[in-house]
Amino acid sequence: MSKRRTAILISGRGSNMASLIEAAKEPSFPAEIVLVLSNKPEAPGLFAAKAQGINVAAVDHKIYAGRAAFEASLQKMLLAHRIDFICLAGFMRLLTPSFVSHWEGRLINIHPSLLPSYKGLDTHERAIADGVKIHGCTVHYVVAEMDAGPIIAQAAVSVLDDDTPATLGARVLEQEHIIYPLALNLAAGRSLKINNLRVTGAKGVACAMVSPHIT
Ligand code: GRF
Repeated sequence: MSKRRTAILISGRGSNMASLIEAAKEPSFPAEIVLVLSNKPEAPGLFAAKAQGINVAAVDHKIYAGRAAFEASLQKMLLAHRIDFICLAGFMRLLTPSFVSHWEGRLINIHPSLLPSYKGLDTHERAIADGVKIHGCTVHYVVAEMDAGPIIAQAAVSVLDDDTPATLGARVLEQEHIIYPLALNLAAGRSLKINNLRVTGAKGVACAMVSPHIT
């Protein structure tokens, strides 16, 4: 089966992008990373991707009159590179329902919490403040509502007594780098089925669970 021509959309450092690029080097991986696109021309991830020989592009949202014009330009770039699948990896722009519906089933995102808990920003701060004992990350299909689509993979970590948002975030990020390639492998491989919010068909490997560090 031909590889999915995949674009990664970023806004910043791109550590998840790097983990996807690395995983996609495996000859049997079902996705090929052909484009890294940022809404911020100065995003460090763009330079990292370029150094790996991947096509990069910036579509600076600030120069467009509105969301529709920005997305039209994004869409044009994606079509020009014959993109068939999109991974959002720290892409900090909300996408319109029309863009999302065009890419339905071919657009995935990583979020630093165990959805449906802690949608939105500052997830690690909020998890610590609430005293939850388990936190983590989620890869999900993107739908029009923010951080709300069908879940492909999750990983959990314990929240430790002395955690700060930075220490907790660093442990969650390690797991993000594991589950995002796993989820892309599954989603690009066309074997997943989506039924409302339930994703099935991954032969039991769609969920990674990390044991709590309880001593
Ligand atoms: C990650 O925590 C990701 O879950 C969130 O934004 C952050 C991006 O980090 N959506 P990086 O650019 O991949 O290093």
